[in-house]
Amino acid sequence: MDPEDLIQVLLKEHTQIRAELREFQEAVRHGENKKAASLSLKLRKILTQHIAYEDAELLGFLTRAYGTDGTSDAIEIFHQHKPILELFEEMVAASSASPSDAVAKAARLTELIRQHTMAEEGRIYPCACSAQETGLLKKQV
Ligand SMILES: [Fe+2]
Ligand SMILES: [Fe+2]
Repeated sequence: MDPEDLIQVLLKEHTQIRAELREFQEAVRHGENKKAASLSLKLRKILTQHIAYEDAELLGFLTRAYGTDGTSDAIEIFHQHKPILELFEEMVAASSASPSDAVAKAARLTELIRQHTMAEEGRIYPCACSAQETGLLKKQV
């Protein structure tokens, strides 16, 4: 996959992650435990896959285009992946024992993901696209 195609996939996943997190929060709030459990499985899958693509593929593109010095912003933003996954697991664990705690954690996670995806869409993804457009990065074969 070249950077522009990868970024289209990642952008779609941002929308999907935010929507499913909203649905999860509503399901927990309304005591719909089965729905919340199935949404948490979907969310875990998409979050881990999304983060793996960013940490491996996207960071690989950026490093090849800009070198390690030019990727410090991306590395700093991608450091949020671990706390995001940790808070996600805490939220899921709380959902059966303490729904109000799970809703509060979901609200914190929503805000963390909102800031994180805004930084990626505003600063990191455009860098990868322009690296491809300006020929800094050779097309993948
Ligand atoms: Fe990310
Ligand atoms: Fe992302």
